Amino acid sequence: MKEDGAQVRGASIENSAWFMPFSMNRQFKKQPRLVSRADGIHYYTPEGRKLIDGTSGLWCVNAGHCRESIVAAVQKQVATLDFAPPFQLGHPAAFEFADRVVKLAPAGLSRVFFTNSGSESVDTALKLALAYHRARGEGHRVRLIGRERGYHGVNFGGTAVGGIVGNRKIFGALVAGVDHIRHTHDLARNAYSRGQPEFGVELADDLERLCALHDPSTIAALIVEPVACSTGVLVPPRGYLERLREICDRHGILLIFDEVITGWGRLGQPFAAQYFGVTPDLITTAKGITNGTVPMGAVLMKEDLYQAFMTGPELSIEMPHGYTYSAHPLACAAGLATLDVYEKEGLLTRAGELAPYWQQQAHALRGLPHLIDIRDIGLIAAFELAPRPGAPGARGLEAHRQAFEKGAYIRATGDVIALAPPLIIERPEIDRLFEILRGVIAKLA
Ligand SMILES: Cc1ncc(COP(=O)(O)O)c(C=O)c1O
Repeated sequence: MKEDGAQVRGASIENSAWFMPFSMNRQFKKQPRLVSRADGIHYYTPEGRKLIDGTSGLWCVNAGHCRESIVAAVQKQVATLDFAPPFQLGHPAAFEFADRVVKLAPAGLSRVFFTNSGSESVDTALKLALAYHRARGEGHRVRLIGRERGYHGVNFGGTAVGGIVGNRKIFGALVAGVDHIRHTHDLARNAYSRGQPEFGVELADDLERLCALHDPSTIAALIVEPVACSTGVLVPPRGYLERLREICDRHGILLIFDEVITGWGRLGQPFAAQYFGVTPDLITTAKGITNGTVPMGAVLMKEDLYQAFMTGPELSIEMPHGYTYSAHPLACAAGLATLDVYEKEGLLTRAGELAPYWQQQAHALRGLPHLIDIRDIGLIAAFELAPRPGAPGARGLEAHRQAFEKGAYIRATGDVIALAPPLIIERPEIDRLFEILRGVIAKLA
């Protein structure tokens, strides 16, 4: 489809009022990269150029773009019930969707709180953890533990437990009482691992160090991404998540898995918790819950967490927390239609079927210049480039820009290129994506 290029080129973008998030505004506005249409696994530029979507939008369009049944469900909903307040009022789709979501969750996570994003899910989960301990008479558990290089969105709680320095350093002291365990990245021992790396289970013991330092009775929760994606795809070493679970259990610490990216089939199970066989107390999710169509997030929790709040007089508000748009009718409609697509097309397990081929094709790029690691899990792969001396991130950015020219949208975090295409991708399209990437990396200065 051709569109009027005048609108997208030149002064209107260069001087645009939009302060873009997580973007190099000045550089981008001089040389914008735009898409104006999407379909299946492809984006289209305003000039009509077709790009393979190598990152499912922003790790969210798991069933592919503009799926007819999801579009139709949202269109119908917006014309029927556009908004319904979620405080002391409900609409049927919210209850139906909640019940459908928990059916797919790991056994025991039987309740769900709706939000509008991953960031809101994280801050909701942290608040629930604090409130849960207080409700049980353990209000002394006030500390929150994150992990270096973790990404938990951009709200105050999530920024504080997050561990990417560039996302934290300019925002002051953030939230008090937060500490971090060490990250698990270890190229010296684990470069070119296929699936879970062999070395590093002992890094989980860093949680014991923080327990010794602060006393475990002061710690409310540990939050980690099962696979730390935004920081450049750090796959947990074998046995690591299991050990975190054991340590949390030993000390009465709640374990929160941030599955904003790993949820909804990315690893070949509905949630990474099921893939790894480790059940957390809470799961934060968003993105793929509506296939990225309408903003929505959710916090799944174990039954005893929910029940801890269902005490006291019945005429009391059990959780003084929530958002105007919690369980928004459009999001619930999109979510229900999304789950139908996932279920009908077997997408929540498809990454497991594709993973061996995906892994083989990803690792076939080994040996290209500047590459220092390739790692993968489920339908995720990362390619780490050696930083250009004195210019960290420059090679990653160049790869992103070159790929856009050559027909693929890929994400670069610093010098790590991350791929996570829609779960509907076929083998020839996987080949095409890696062929483009091979050409791009081969030509990097
Ligand atoms: C693990 C994780 N948590 C939280 C978030 C924040 O989600 P959102 O951008 O929807 O607020 C992200 C976003 O990428 C994420 O990857």
